[in-house]
Amino acid sequence: MPSDVQDFITRMLILMQKAHFPVTDFTPSLIWQLGNIIPGFLPCAWRGMVPPLTLSKRHAKIDAYVSKHIFPDRLTSPVFVDIGCGFPPITTMESAATLSEWRVFGVDQSFSDYLLHDREGNYACFNEQGEFEYFQPRFSRVGVRMYQNSAEVQSRFKKIFDELQLLLSSKTGQANETIDKDGYKLIHHPIRNYEAPNLSFVESKLEDVQTPPAHIIRCMNTLLYFKPETQQHMLVKLGSQLADGGMLIVGSNLMNGASCRYTVYKREGAFVVPIEFALTVDNLGPFNVMPWYTLHDNDPEAMQLADMIHQLRANQSFWPGFTKRLDHLMEHYGLFQRDGEGFFHAPEDEHLAADFSERVSHMWRQIEEEGLTNEAVDALQCAGYTAWKNPVGDIAIQPNAPSFKLPE
Ligand SMILES: C[S@@+](CC[C@H](N)C(=O)[O-])C[C@H]1O[C@@H](n2cnc3c(N)ncnc32)[C@H](O)[C@@H]1O
Repeated sequence: MPSDVQDFITRMLILMQKAHFPVTDFTPSLIWQLGNIIPGFLPCAWRGMVPPLTLSKRHAKIDAYVSKHIFPDRLTSPVFVDIGCGFPPITTMESAATLSEWRVFGVDQSFSDYLLHDREGNYACFNEQGEFEYFQPRFSRVGVRMYQNSAEVQSRFKKIFDELQLLLSSKTGQANETIDKDGYKLIHHPIRNYEAPNLSFVESKLEDVQTPPAHIIRCMNTLLYFKPETQQHMLVKLGSQLADGGMLIVGSNLMNGASCRYTVYKREGAFVVPIEFALTVDNLGPFNVMPWYTLHDNDPEAMQLADMIHQLRANQSFWPGFTKRLDHLMEHYGLFQRDGEGFFHAPEDEHLAADFSERVSHMWRQIEEEGLTNEAVDALQCAGYTAWKNPVGDIAIQPNAPSFKLPE
């Protein structure tokens, strides 16, 4: 594996050790993701660029969090800014549809000039010079295999791009144009297609961004690409873009919002104060790499999450019952079962079920319905945390991140 993937795994193991995650809790799906998905997710796969990777419904929970938040004054035409919104900006569009009373801005350092969709739901991005930038497979078991033949996939997309680009009426200027041919679709200046009456896009680095004072800034799956010191500078910049009383939500998650962790900051005059660190209960399970997903040593959110997982695993009134119930449900949903030595195996022929993700989501829903999130909150309170279940049902604590003062 490339050295960046090896470093990723080393950081993962350090966090697991901090969380007291034992080797017997590795699952085949976790190992599979390390081999098949992580190599395609890391910047090293994209010449060091932060990939515009984004996934539909990823932030539905955060949108619900925003909808449920009661601002002290009734807001007229409140402003929501999605920083590092990715491309195509699916989650920003979803937010604009959900938060229809809000003015929504999607901000990213780069929106590709060309977008090419294939018949299978995969797509590729190209710059104005026609150079390949990025592809994203459909997130199915077959789709993600494309990462293993990345060079071949890139040249296939490039060949089709070159053919379709010849059919555009103009390659210069800012016109928006779409060419449909043989199941492929090439769009020139595609960002225009995502605009809506309450949604606009700003191509800017977050360091330089100028938007109206925001009541909510969401910055998901972006800061973790930077070293902790740079993250702190970015937080100051984002804080300065908030309206007084506005909130900044920063975190990471996977598709469908799985394994989400996020910190919520509030602007109080010249200060930005962290008011909540929250995680979805599935962070306590062993199915995927997201709880251990970092791109730099000592990522503050990942460290805080590992610390919370450690506290929950150490709590003798919570963890033995929780893990027993989880093992039982994993077996019940046909996901994994433990062998005589306590290691997890997939039940049939060592293959994961085709509807594995759906089964996992159902299982976590059942865990929540059985009240295990509340038990986790109680266990954290016993461990000395100020903990609560937040309005969207996630486990929340008073964060250990520092407040900071904004420059004059
Ligand atoms: C992994 S994507 C996350 C997309 C989306 N927020 C999500 O959660 O699905 C990270 C995005 O951050 C953008 N980005 C990285 N550094 C940035 C910067 N300094 N300013 C603005 N955008 C940046 C990248 O271009 C990329 O589109």
